[in-house]
Amino acid sequence: MPPEISPSCEQLALRARENYEEQFEAAPQALSRAPGRLEILGNHTDYNNGYILSVALELSVVIAAGQEETSPRRLGAWSSTFNERIDAGLEEPAPLAGSWINYPLGVLRELERSGIRLPSINLAIESSLPTGAGVSSSAALELATAEAAYGMLGGRPGDPMEEARLCRRAENDFVGVPCGILDQFSSLFGKRDHFLFLDCGTLEYDRLSLPGAGLAIVIADSRVKHALIDGQYARLRAHCASATQRLGELLDRPVPSLRDVGLEEFLECRDEVEEEDRKRAEHVIRENSRVLSGVEALRRKDIVRLGELMLESHSSSRELFGNSCDELDFLVETASGLPGFIGGKLSGGGFGGATVNLGEEDSAGEFQERLSTEWNHRFAAPLRTLQTRIGNGARLL
Ligand code: GLA
Repeated sequence: MPPEISPSCEQLALRARENYEEQFEAAPQALSRAPGRLEILGNHTDYNNGYILSVALELSVVIAAGQEETSPRRLGAWSSTFNERIDAGLEEPAPLAGSWINYPLGVLRELERSGIRLPSINLAIESSLPTGAGVSSSAALELATAEAAYGMLGGRPGDPMEEARLCRRAENDFVGVPCGILDQFSSLFGKRDHFLFLDCGTLEYDRLSLPGAGLAIVIADSRVKHALIDGQYARLRAHCASATQRLGELLDRPVPSLRDVGLEEFLECRDEVEEEDRKRAEHVIRENSRVLSGVEALRRKDIVRLGELMLESHSSSRELFGNSCDELDFLVETASGLPGFIGGKLSGGGFGGATVNLGEEDSAGEFQERLSTEWNHRFAAPLRTLQTRIGNGARLL
């Protein structure tokens, strides 16, 4: 398959406006945009109070929104991705099994819980983000909904982190995915050509500029279905929690999270931790140090080191955390042998979805072609590759 060309934000906004007018027979009152994200380092560290290094993308969700006074109150939403219009009640919102509407609906419920009185809301949603690829189209939908609603109704919290937390609560409590804050934070705090560093324990963050021009980011989407809701993610979380508890006993001090365990002390007592818990914990503890090394590398403008750390992270996912799969391993291994490649790994939850590849811009076209060719020799389904830039965080347009 030739590399895909993604619609620009302006094209998405135009379509959102047109679809809004067609669906709701009125002009929209707000336009918002929120990007997807890629996890660069810090895999499954967020809910362990650890560190993450991520980027927001140019690929994004764009929403045209409006409000109406109707009784009872409802959310009317059109999604071009799913070619579907859904209307859902806002009085006592309940999730619709497996539906995309749960993301905007969950955010609206949280907004009301935070004290904002909602009228009926209409949304027309456009997206250039592949779904189910591990680039967090769901967090982008949440943040774009929140931005549009704050834009129309006011009430934006003084601390922007509260907006990311609100969207995370929507995903945890309404959609039912026990995710950490990586996705919502990255979609909101992204900055063009900057990496994002977050300490998930303290929620302190930093933005680190690109080490120079000429860096390409290529997403290679295996299209292997990854469903966070189906329990694998929750199982991994449970192993991390039980390892945390065991390490507290072994170290004989309070250990609130894996972030509070140093690598050396872990290595000294790891043999006394049950095997599966031990491997999951080792991945997380080593990922935390890799993020800190990655931040240092970026400050030194050493992109080659960052690339090595990404490859180490992927191997650790494969060998210790158990959240890779044959297709993702094939993509990372094949990419490693191609010209211009700097580093790559799976991005996000794992078990499928996409790999993130850093490479030299000049070679990005050839890189995508050769990766796709190798993939076609091995797997029947086509590979989707997308080159994207590091973009800005969520905001009103
Ligand atoms: C998913 C979750 C995030 C994070 C990553 C793994 O993307 O939504 O909170 O846990 O997996 O790092």
